[in-house]
Amino acid sequence: MKIILFGPPGAGKGTQAKKIVDHYNIPHLSTGNIFRYNIKNETELGKKVKSIMDAGKLVPDETVVELVVDELQNDKYDNGYILDGFPRTVPQAKALDQFLAENSTSIDTFITLTVPEEELVQRILSRGEGRSDDTPEKVRTRLEVYRNETEPVLNYYKEKGMVTEVDGVGTIDEIFERIKEVLDKI
Ligand code: AP5
Ligand code: MG
Repeated sequence: MKIILFGPPGAGKGTQAKKIVDHYNIPHLSTGNIFRYNIKNETELGKKVKSIMDAGKLVPDETVVELVVDELQNDKYDNGYILDGFPRTVPQAKALDQFLAENSTSIDTFITLTVPEEELVQRILSRGEGRSDDTPEKVRTRLEVYRNETEPVLNYYKEKGMVTEVDGVGTIDEIFERIKEVLDKI
């Protein structure tokens, strides 16, 4: 099962991905988590992306694509995966398509979590994990970047007829039930 879990910052991608991992036993690939890990460990990649992430902007496409393509070569992804935070621009989506075609595989479903903007802001500002991009100013930037650069990805997959919208408001378990309904049909 190969899934893209999509949605604006704070929509609950990471939260729901954890539940999908436990229930369906497939690995989670979060580009944001990989970047944060690299920043924490002061790797070359971490040094390259730190100021961009801190500002709430997007890491350049070629850096992200190289990272994901490299990661997906790992055997652990052979039986499926959940992509969280990728693809986030149309060029990234096209690069993913090329990678999938080269490997004679495809994505089974694209789930987008829909949450009103006021709730996104509220969730992010009350997260309390000390993320450097969780300040009111950075949240504004991230939402603007989402609208300008990431939302077009939704139309890209809509044109392919792959999108299922899931209402992202409710309790974490309620939302997971909605996601399971979609995934159990695959
Ligand atoms: P990334 O890590 O992907 O962050 P994001 O998209 O901004 O989203 P979040 O992680 O903030 O939200 P989420 O949807 O995972 O929600 P969560 O489950 O945490 O990216 C960070 C940065 O990395 C980017 O800005 C960019 O710089 C860089 N980057 C990453 N990928 C990139 C790419 N492909 N290209 C370029 N740059 C890239 O939930 C949010 C909060 O709400 C939590 O506290 C949670 O507990 C709570 N919550 C969850 N569900 C509910 C619920 N149902 N009710 C109430 N609260 C809830
Ligand atoms: Mg996340």
